[in-house]
Amino acid sequence: MSKIILTGDRPTGRLHVGHYVGSLKRRVQLQNSGEYDKVFIMIADAQALTDNADNPEKIRQNIIEVALDYMACGLDPAKSTLFIQSQIPELTELSFYYMNLVTVSRLQRNPTVKAEIQMRNFETSIPVGFFTYPISQASDITAFKATTVPVGEDQAPMIEQTREIVHKFNSVYGETLVEPQILLPDNSACMRLPGTDGKAKMSKSLGNCIYLAEDPGDIKTKVMSMFTDPNHIRVEDPGCCEGNTVFTYLEAFSTPEHFAEYLPDYKDLDELKAHYRRGGLGDVKVKKFLNNVLQEELGPIRERRQELQKDIPYIYEVLKKGSEVAREAAAQTLSEVRRAMKINYFEDEALISSQVEKYKV
Ligand code: TRP
Repeated sequence: MSKIILTGDRPTGRLHVGHYVGSLKRRVQLQNSGEYDKVFIMIADAQALTDNADNPEKIRQNIIEVALDYMACGLDPAKSTLFIQSQIPELTELSFYYMNLVTVSRLQRNPTVKAEIQMRNFETSIPVGFFTYPISQASDITAFKATTVPVGEDQAPMIEQTREIVHKFNSVYGETLVEPQILLPDNSACMRLPGTDGKAKMSKSLGNCIYLAEDPGDIKTKVMSMFTDPNHIRVEDPGCCEGNTVFTYLEAFSTPEHFAEYLPDYKDLDELKAHYRRGGLGDVKVKKFLNNVLQEELGPIRERRQELQKDIPYIYEVLKKGSEVAREAAAQTLSEVRRAMKINYFEDEALISSQVEKYKV
């Protein structure tokens, strides 16, 4: 069986380092590994509209931002199909059929949707489209026969629900759809990178993000004002690394090579942590190291983005071509789905001749 990747992001803003360590970096590695027959990367504008129905301009403006961030990170249109969800109408048709296989109570149990409903104060007025987006996400994944979905931990309930839909579909209509596997980041700091203020999630409205395209001065300012251990007041005090944002970021980003280059007194993060816990290591020194690490990681991404920004029509051309390729793949799956569901009347000669038989006098 072919190995196929599908994943994507909602275009509601520029991408930040949480997206990067949570999924983007991995996608680029998978794309370049040569182990996958196809890689589909989707800008999920239709899903973004499920909770931004009154703000289409925001979604429209952010398509290009996400595409630039993708390509700046190394997603390469020669190796991956980059496309826009709304340009694939086959996805909505699939969703309509999958809706018959999912109960309202099952949707209500989806923990990510539950949390999002709370966050958006939707409790008393949930848009139906938003409520059902896990079903639409199942269409995104199955339309491309994805075997592997690299995403952050918050997406696990969507993949679980997709697998249930695949199961149900195949058992009712016959083996048609492919059951996908989730691929999570392999380190827990990458899985849940907090905002610079130590809050659980990076979000634009909290102002606690470091963006991929952030300029060097702003990266430094944000790192130097990061949340650390509030009880680590004097340098000689013992400090705590757990829940200490600077150390969480180092877990997500730093390598022994970074230590050799910028902080050669320590072999690796374990040694640095041991010193911090003992006392005698100041926050400023650790923050300066983190700043160096982030500058090294984000510098090339920012520079590539600046190059890409010089030819915006080319980026739209990439998305247009990608959407055409994606549409063909989705159309193929949809025709298999229609056949399995017995709604392919006009290509079913056996159906017509059996009706002829029935009405023979
Ligand atoms: N729900 C994802 C997000 O919020 C975006 C998304 C839509 C997606 N469809 C998908 C991710 C299919 C993986 C697979 O970022």
